[in-house]
Amino acid sequence: MALNQSGRRRFLGVLGGTALLGALPGMAQTRKNVTETPDGFTPDLELELRAAPDQIAILPGQSTGVWRYRAKVLKGPANAVTTIPGSYLGPIINVRRGTRVRVNFINELPQPSVVHWHGLIIPEAMDGHPRYVVPPGGRYTYEFEVRNRAGTYWFHPHPDQLTGTQVNAGLAGLFIVTDDEERALKLPDGERDVALVIQDRSFTSDNQLRYVGNGPGMAGMMSRMNGFIGDQILVNGRPDFSLAVERRPYRLRLLNGSNSRIYKLAWNDSSPMTVIGSDGGLLYAPVRRTYITLAPAERIELWVDFSTRVAGEELTLQSQPFAASTGGSMMGGMMGGSGSLPNGAEFPVLKVRIGKGAAISEKLPGMLTSIAPLRPEQASNFANPRTFRTTMVGMRWGLNGRVFEMDGVAKDEVVRLGSTEIWEFINEASMGMMGGGMPHPIHIHGVQFRIIGRRVQPAAISAWHSLNEGYVDEGWKDTVLLMPGERVRLLMRFDNYPGMFVYHCHNLEHEDMGMMRNFLIKA
Ligand code: C2O
Ligand code: CU
Ligand code: CU
Repeated sequence: MALNQSGRRRFLGVLGGTALLGALPGMAQTRKNVTETPDGFTPDLELELRAAPDQIAILPGQSTGVWRYRAKVLKGPANAVTTIPGSYLGPIINVRRGTRVRVNFINELPQPSVVHWHGLIIPEAMDGHPRYVVPPGGRYTYEFEVRNRAGTYWFHPHPDQLTGTQVNAGLAGLFIVTDDEERALKLPDGERDVALVIQDRSFTSDNQLRYVGNGPGMAGMMSRMNGFIGDQILVNGRPDFSLAVERRPYRLRLLNGSNSRIYKLAWNDSSPMTVIGSDGGLLYAPVRRTYITLAPAERIELWVDFSTRVAGEELTLQSQPFAASTGGSMMGGMMGGSGSLPNGAEFPVLKVRIGKGAAISEKLPGMLTSIAPLRPEQASNFANPRTFRTTMVGMRWGLNGRVFEMDGVAKDEVVRLGSTEIWEFINEASMGMMGGGMPHPIHIHGVQFRIIGRRVQPAAISAWHSLNEGYVDEGWKDTVLLMPGERVRLLMRFDNYPGMFVYHCHNLEHEDMGMMRNFLIKA
């Protein structure tokens, strides 16, 4: 794998950054610095990626105005880009680890936008920081080498205060990485490797998307505080989604692409779910859950053996109700309230129709990866982790009492390139000026982390009973859900690129409202 490439910056009217230094992949132990070569980037894969308004049929009757990405392969294998048929979502970019990718982005939206490659570890100027926003009609060239492990990553807009609007309008695609280690496992592939993006949306009576996230008045304020909750579930951009499968094992890659809705996913016959991967790729070994709590931006990969199913059977993946809140009113929209599809209800997400052919079984390997795990003792701040609290700042959500500043980095938001650290995130159980009482899916750019501890305040358990069962904390992650009353400890190593990255709540309305901060990886 080539190691001497880092992204080259070409930006339009934005600020300069730090010098870019390349290093080995996130999970490797060694590190090598290379110099940026301004014109030396030779892509293996070159794409044109356009973001533009479009009209698409989603509901019966009138078509819906959406914003969407469309890609064209300029160099490289044609199947590096696949589409999600009939959907505003996508495309799916399929690459092998080590691929050097160039994306020529063209912004044909009426708003500034920027593409963030969620979960990938790439240089600052390629990562979609809001500073690198591209004006309407503008272009930007993203160039990076894919250093991540095989896994399900994705991309979406990241402009300051407009992320919720643009994602809701339809802008999101998948970035699927394979590598040799994964291929050797012979997991289901081709038609039996299915990406499923779960979102909620609201439509007006004439089939147009309704979004109140930035709206005025009480509705806008409630949406900003709670996050936008739609009243219709879409999978891959389609309502009433149903998947036809053969009687064989499948690999289902689930992404919660919703702005703020959290799902508690389970099969309707309560058969256990076998999880093989999460945000940062395959787990060490498969784990089983009776249900899975999936917060915005989180991914989960299931291995589902349909060979044990009866021919012609129908199965439903549903979202189960969360425990009723103990009366915290702020919880209303998020977990129990607004719209006809509250999180407090049980509702179908998608249907699976089992085929009538002969059953073919396959074995799932007992071990999925041999990469060396990071150990907590390797952290420089093992005895004294950095702490971050979810807080209220006036009527806005913040982190440690601060809201987003485009260029601002506080003293306690600077880390050393090459260091290993523990970050602890704390979400208070109760509402109040300390800002507890709401779930926050916390996402960190520029790294994949391990979840090394999760604790629930005893007082919070009555409100959110048996939460822990639904988490998949075993693998590499870039997003972690913090329910009210929870704290998590994350272990991560900043061993790839120096630069300014963001960490934020992936409830997109919270993010847009300021629940995002910079951190600096200092060379
Ligand atoms: Cu998926 Cu900073 O976001
Ligand atoms: Cu991200
Ligand atoms: Cu939040």
